[in-house]
Amino acid sequence: MDAQEKGELVIQTIAMPADTNANGDIFGGWLLSQMDLGGAVLAYQITKNRIATRAIHDMVFIKPVKVGDRVAFYAKVVHRGRTSIGIQIEAWAFRLCAQQSEQVAKGLYTYVSIDDAGRSAPIHW
Ligand SMILES: CC(C)(COP(=O)(O)OP(=O)(O)OC[C@H]1O[C@@H](n2cnc3c(N)ncnc32)[C@H](O)[C@@H]1OP(=O)(O)O)[C@@H](O)C(=O)NCCC(=O)NCCS
Repeated sequence: MDAQEKGELVIQTIAMPADTNANGDIFGGWLLSQMDLGGAVLAYQITKNRIATRAIHDMVFIKPVKVGDRVAFYAKVVHRGRTSIGIQIEAWAFRLCAQQSEQVAKGLYTYVSIDDAGRSAPIHW
């Protein structure tokens, strides 16, 4: 899959031991929050406004992330609403041992543009 299909690279980091679950793999909540941050990076760039995460749909954990994996997060806009923006986010892990990357998670995140009072506000597309 080429970079255009995956979307824009919004975050890249290394999976650390502090973020492991009871199995010794990376905790799903860590992945979910990194994806939320990655989507927010793109949503900020596009809306040029404060945003809040409104919903997460179709979150799928495909393969475990291991300590030491380099994890890259890709985001692309899939929905343009009045106050909301839908962003598809993919997480890919580059495995040091295998020298290859695999998709490990995906999800559809919806962000809402908000004003200073925290109320939803139109996005100026
Ligand atoms: C974001 C917030 C201000 C929006 O409140 P609101 O004014 O009642 O607006 P709504 O949520 O009804 O609608 C806003 C947009 O979200 C969309 N939306 C609402 N629920 C949705 C859902 N479950 N899935 C996808 N989109 C949804 C609506 O369709 C609307 O989009 P549009 O304007 O592009 O048509 C409010 O819900 C909020 O503060 N939520 C908490 C945000 C937060 O704390 N996030 C961090 C979570 S830890």
